[in-house]
Amino acid sequence: TERTLVLVKPDGVKRGLIGQVLARIEAKGYEIEKLQLVRATKEQLAEHYAEHAGKPFYQPLVDFMASGPIAAVVATGDGVITGFRSLAGATDPTTAAPGTIRGDLGRDWGTAVQQNIVHGSDSTESAKREIAIWFPADEG
Ligand code: GTP
Ligand code: MG
Repeated sequence: TERTLVLVKPDGVKRGLIGQVLARIEAKGYEIEKLQLVRATKEQLAEHYAEHAGKPFYQPLVDFMASGPIAAVVATGDGVITGFRSLAGATDPTTAAPGTIRGDLGRDWGTAVQQNIVHGSDSTESAKREIAIWFPADEG
């Protein structure tokens, strides 16, 4: 069965939204296979966001992701990679569609990086790579 990595980012944890994110994943019919509250290391964030290195929002993004605990989740189910991205909504919470996690629960807080509550892997390759970053003991 397909697996994806979901992160409830520090803004989501601080605002008490872990339960709502998990509830939406479960209500959609996916399963929570792994769940852990973690503090991201610099190494984890450098690997996780390697594709964004050099972009103007990279350093604010990494600083934000290190600003508090993160809930790391492996969710499973056929189509879960695309399905969770659909539940999450567009990257920018201001314009993310209502009905989505970012559209319903997110907004612009005037920060240098978009605080958008969740991360979801964008492909099977990303999911495999990212699950290994956040659950290093996992054999896949
Ligand atoms: P993730 O699921 O977190 O990876 O979001 P995404 O796939 O919708 O976005 P992407 O991977 O392109 O960017 C990663 C994160 O960087 C986003 O979730 C935002 O927090 C931040 N980000 C991306 N693009 C921008 C941007 O244009 N401006 C700002 N300020 N932040 C951005
Ligand atoms: Mg992304």
